Amino acid sequence: MSSATARAHANIALVKYWAKRDAELNLPAAGSLSVTLSGLSSVTNVTFGASDKDQLWVDGRAATGRAIERALAIVDRIRDRAGLVGEPVRIESRNDFPTSAGLASSASGMAALAVAAAGAAELQLSPTELSNLARLGSGSACRSIFGGYVEWQPGTRPDGSDSHAHQLHPSEHWDLRVVVAVVQDRPKAVDSSAGMAHTAETSPYLPTYVELVPPDLSEAKQAVQNRDLERLARVAERSSLRMHAATIAADPPLLYLTAESWQVIDAARQMRRRGVPVFFTADAGPNVKLFCEPEALGQVQGTVEALGCAKRTILARPGPGAELIDA
Ligand code: PMV
Repeated sequence: MSSATARAHANIALVKYWAKRDAELNLPAAGSLSVTLSGLSSVTNVTFGASDKDQLWVDGRAATGRAIERALAIVDRIRDRAGLVGEPVRIESRNDFPTSAGLASSASGMAALAVAAAGAAELQLSPTELSNLARLGSGSACRSIFGGYVEWQPGTRPDGSDSHAHQLHPSEHWDLRVVVAVVQDRPKAVDSSAGMAHTAETSPYLPTYVELVPPDLSEAKQAVQNRDLERLARVAERSSLRMHAATIAADPPLLYLTAESWQVIDAARQMRRRGVPVFFTADAGPNVKLFCEPEALGQVQGTVEALGCAKRTILARPGPGAELIDA
């Protein structure tokens, strides 16, 4: 029996990944940029040879179907490489934040799984190789291997070997703070993969979204490099809203944002108009994330809480990449 445990953190994209060029390998149609966050983490244990069949437990519940398929996409590669084919795996993952509510639990979970599975199989893999593996479980997971400010280059090879993330800047580069407005904490109805597929099949706006990613990406990289919040705010907000515009234009439409999400978005825009250094972003779920400079944190959190539409707020900041830990 061999076992290892890893921790990885959620990441929030500022330029969003919302289209695949290969659904099986999770190869993106364009690049993306994210911040890996402390404060939102998954701890995943992988044990080979402890059970008679493959098992996945998430927050104490047995997972089935798509979730286990995605996890095994990672584990099967590890088993192949380590000569462990036929060795059953038991995976136990716990999140310290709501699962499947647009808070990137799949990213942190799959990144932790890649690191723990490699550890349990005693394979020494580079961060780039781990990023490639994590991508097989969930595209955005490839970014959670790295800490701080991270870019995922789409790559061009059909086998995906050049589609992995890399760190642009460590977390200390820019001490942005994040207030997550949790307006809903139950799992979303349509997960990212299904939402992306439906948008690709039916939204006339998706090709335009994809076309606009490269200029958004280069502008966002410059803004992050220069710690220019005003400029990053404009890119990040438009990237998020364009992604939602594409999902809203799908047929039937896919609406991830609720009335409560829009209240938070509106509050962020009003604060920035008054000179508060803050901006919003929202993913495939109703919870809105507000990024701000540290000195504005109290005001941003207070304003969101005073709206009364958030069940609670979670505070986060740029954090570390995935790592093995003692169980
Ligand atoms: O990695 P997935 O399949 O969960 O997709 C993530 C998609 C978004 O969170 C909406 C955007 C992103 O770049 O993280």
